[in-house]
Parts: sequence; structure tokens; C-alpha cells
Amino acid sequence: MLHKKLKPFPKDFLWGASTSAYQVEGANLSDGKGPSCQDVKEIPEGTSDLSVCVDHYHRYKEDIALMAEMGFKAYRFSIAWTRILPNGTGEINQQGIDFYNDLINECLKYNMEPIVTMFHFDMPDALDKQGSWSNRDSVDWFVNFAKIMFENYGDRVKYWLTINEQNMLTLVGPVIGTLRIPEGTTNILKETYQQNHHMLVAQSKAMQLCHEMLPNAKIGPAPNISLVYAATSKPEDVLAAQNCNAIRNWLYLDMAVYGKYNNLVWAYLEEHDACPEILDGDNEILEAGKPDFIGFNYYNTMTVGEADDSIVSDAGADQQSSNGVAGVYKGVANPNLGKTEFGWEIDPVGFRGTIREMYSRYRLPMLVTENGLGAYDKLTEDGKVHDQYRINYLREHIAQVQLAISDDCEMLGYCPWSAIDLISTHEGIRKRYGFIYVDRDEFDLGTLNRYRKDSFFWYKKVIETNGADL
Ligand code: BG6
Repeated sequence: MLHKKLKPFPKDFLWGASTSAYQVEGANLSDGKGPSCQDVKEIPEGTSDLSVCVDHYHRYKEDIALMAEMGFKAYRFSIAWTRILPNGTGEINQQGIDFYNDLINECLKYNMEPIVTMFHFDMPDALDKQGSWSNRDSVDWFVNFAKIMFENYGDRVKYWLTINEQNMLTLVGPVIGTLRIPEGTTNILKETYQQNHHMLVAQSKAMQLCHEMLPNAKIGPAPNISLVYAATSKPEDVLAAQNCNAIRNWLYLDMAVYGKYNNLVWAYLEEHDACPEILDGDNEILEAGKPDFIGFNYYNTMTVGEADDSIVSDAGADQQSSNGVAGVYKGVANPNLGKTEFGWEIDPVGFRGTIREMYSRYRLPMLVTENGLGAYDKLTEDGKVHDQYRINYLREHIAQVQLAISDDCEMLGYCPWSAIDLISTHEGIRKRYGFIYVDRDEFDLGTLNRYRKDSFFWYKKVIETNGADL
């Protein structure tokens, strides 16, 4: 099964790349935009704030022209809720509507499919002040925002993603700057999963609404999926890996696809008196919303063993690292894998394994909505960035997508992170991912000029040959 005849990438494969509004746009309080949780959060020491980012808001035409030069068939971006609805609900900000109209039209000018993420880590601050996702009204807040997007952009946007990395919002919200827990809460785990439940109901309603309003559009979730390996063949380690897979991955996809809580997660929540309150009718809503495809972000796998007493539940964890959950699993390093400069393990083969596992569980077409290497890039005096390490990473991962296609997994496209340099969730601009370099540092805004990295030219060739020349 390892060496086999390769199947080609499908003819209409969506080669592209991704960004998110709060990390790329800047102009964070301009032209009527309201503050989101990202604009009011405590910025991690030594890293930039989100007021300018890479100024995509003003330079999107130049940026999309560069993406078109690479031959992008798709551009995945997110719509900032607070640009459309500065207070989260109520009055619409026409300048915000116009901005995304222009952005979408600019993509279409180059035959680039706009893939819209409806929510990427940027809850309106005004809604956080009303209890955030803890408030049951959050379901209606989100559905109202979804309706406005479908009304305004549904004539041109065919691919929609609901909530970016809902699993990370739930598991590592404090690191991303998103979790708001009402004062006086005693059982934080329960409250977090109550928020998670509201997001799941909101997502399901948004998927139903999309199908009603836009029968030709496709919509799906976009969790961060990392297949979890057992540290050894010891049966207890294998059970721990099943637990971690359920908590980290399958809860979100079981819900999106089947509308049912994963039994291992439910048992875990029961044990901690942390089951969310489920209102009459919620189960029906959850079962009625069906995705057309699965969008997912993949950076690496995880490896876990049986839990022991030493675990302080997920202290210091981020999206791709976990030291474990007391009584459930213990995160360990995988000795077979190398790491990025920022300490994330690198596992291209695990990408294929993750895709295979997802397809056998859900049987839906899949779209890679993120994958990529965060690194310290250096601009040379003659305006080049020699990021061979990124080319190697992407090449190895794309090769695994092709192997997964050859395994008969249905793949719609590949949109790595990120189209252009942008601000990382918690490690600043220094952790760069883009094909396009932006001249700025953490606190010195520089010229904000754009430069094509070596990976830019390499990816152009990959797209030109539809993945035949990696
Ligand atoms: C994902 C997010 O978790 O990974 C992105 O969807 C994020 O918003 C990306 O930027 C890379 O993570 P980081 O922490 O390196 O920015």
C-alpha cells in the first residue's frame, strides 16, 4: 500500500492559499469596523498588535494580483464580523459590505474561487460583553451574520466555511485570545463546552440556511485535525490515543456530519460534571445541518500515552502541542519526527494518514484549508527570500495528498497557510508562513512592500503542472 501507481490531481483541483481577516487586513478600527476580541486582547509580550498587520485591507489588489501570478484557482479568506456588523448585531456597516464585495470581485476577475471563512477567531467585542458564546443568543447572533453574508455575497461565493478551528477555540482559546468565561463561573470546563455546544448549534443552523438560500453553494466546517498516534503498542496507550482523537478531532466532525456527540467525549464530560445543557429541539437541529464537504487544517500529528499523575491539564499548550489531560492522556514527543523552528513536529506521512482516517469515517470530499511551515524568513539585500525549507515542507505534504488521492480519498483542493505573510496567533510577524514576503518587523512597520519568496516561484510551477512537477 505504500508504493503504488499515483493518480493525478483532479482537473479542477483548487490550488490556492489562505489568510484570515484579523491576521492580514489591519485597518482594524477603520471605515466603521468595530473591535473584535483580537483588538482588545492582551498582546503577547514582544509581538505586534493587530492594527496594521500587512495592510491587506488597503493592498488587496496588489496581493490578489500576486496570487493570480502564482496561478491560484482559489483564495481562502475570512470575513471580519465586526466590519459587517460593528456591534455584532444591529446596524450594518456599508463600507464593510463594500470591502468584501470588492475583494470577491477582484478574485473573480482572475477566475480565482473565493472561499469564505465566516468566523475566524474574531468575536465582536460588543458580543463578548454580552456573554460571548456562553449566551444562548449567540446562536441567533451568528445566524443573523450568516444571513447577511449569504444575501450579499451568495451570488458569487460558492464555497463557505463555518467556524475556523472550533476545536482550538474550545481547547486552547486562551492562547488564541478568544475565550471569555463569565465572572463567577466555577466549572470552567462545563462553561467551555456549553460555548462549544452553542457554536455547534449555530454552525448547524448556518449550514441549513446556506442550503435554503443558496442551493448551488457548498458549505462545510474547518476544524484543525491531527491524527493522534499511540506512543507504543501498549493497549493502554492505544486507548489514550482513542480518547485524545475523540476530544481533539472526532467530536467536531461527528457533530458536523452526523449531528451526534461523540460517546467518548460525552463520557469524559459526564465524569467532570461538564456536559452542556441541551435544549429541547437542539438534537434535531444538530442532525438537520449537513456539510457538503469537510474543510480541515493540518499541521502535524500528535502522539500520546496513558495518563499519569504528573499531568497538569494542557498548561502551555497551543494548537499543535498538548501535554495532556489528567486522567485521559499524556502528550509525548514523537522520536520519529523533526520539528519546525517554532517547535511544531513535522509529519507529512501523517497528513496522508489523517486524510485516510477522515475519509473512512465521513465519506465526504475534503478541502485542505491550512497546512504550512512557520519560520524566520530573511530578506536578502537584493530582495529575495530563500525559503527552501518551506518548499521542502510543502512538497512533502503535497506528495502525501496525491498518495491519499491514490488511496481513493476525494480531495477538492489545497489551500496552505498562508498566501502572504501575516501575524501569527500568538507569535507575531516573526513566524512567517507566506509565499509573499512583507517588509515589516514586529514593531517597525517598514515599507510593507511585497517580495516573491523562492516558494512563490516553486508553487507557481506546481500549479501550472497541476501537481505533476513538485
Ligand atoms: C491555525 C489558525 O491554528 O494555525 C491560523 O487557523 C494560524 O489562524 C495558523 O495562524 C498557524 O498558527 P500560528 O499560531 O503559528 O499562527
